[in-house]
Amino acid sequence: MTKQSKILNILYETAHAEYGSALEMLAACKKSQSPSLAFGYFHHSKDEYIHTSTFFSILAKRSQQIKTNEARKLRFRPYFVRTKGYISPKGFLIDFMKIKDFIAFVYTNELLAKSSFEKIHILLGPQTEDGEKIKQIMNDELLHHGMAKKHFLKYYPKLQPWQLMLYKTREQIKNKGRKLYEKNLKFLEIIFQPLYSIISFFIGKIITILDLKEFNRKNKNLMEISARSIL
Ligand SMILES: [Fe+2]
Ligand SMILES: [Fe+2]
Repeated sequence: MTKQSKILNILYETAHAEYGSALEMLAACKKSQSPSLAFGYFHHSKDEYIHTSTFFSILAKRSQQIKTNEARKLRFRPYFVRTKGYISPKGFLIDFMKIKDFIAFVYTNELLAKSSFEKIHILLGPQTEDGEKIKQIMNDELLHHGMAKKHFLKYYPKLQPWQLMLYKTREQIKNKGRKLYEKNLKFLEIIFQPLYSIISFFIGKIITILDLKEFNRKNKNLMEISARSIL
């Protein structure tokens, strides 16, 4: 993989991850009990939407330099947040997590996001225009992390730092698992793709041999067609 395609893939993945966060925060906003909490989640969600759009705009600009069929693979596909595991098949986190665990999740993930963006910042070039945009996103993530921390200190003052460390380790393991799953999926696709092509080639051949006149329903009284007919 060239450095350029590595960067494009990272941008593509991150944009979907940010979109997943935006949806999670919007779901949390809708479920908030107090207006101030709803306001906080709303602004967090808005920031994540802006981050998504920033990553896609950098991606769009950079993918002009690659072949069209390669660039097509980097289109925004909202449902990828599910298939890539950024949104759980169980639903939004706020719907099935305890509120304390949810805030801990936000607290640790914002910090993890910030450190992964540091790597992207270096990859894109800290002195470049894109690098500047990533720097702004990093500042936002730190702000989100700080907001979750404030919430903790206010509502869960007894929570120990080692408990937060535990949350962080758990999230790091989950992130690694997600990457491994993605890699395996890509590997299986490489193996099975020729098989799919061969099968569809033979199906195409069989269809040209078959006499399909029987299935022509034009000008026929449909009431006279057998109920067992496959068409
Ligand atoms: Fe973000
Ligand atoms: Fe964030």
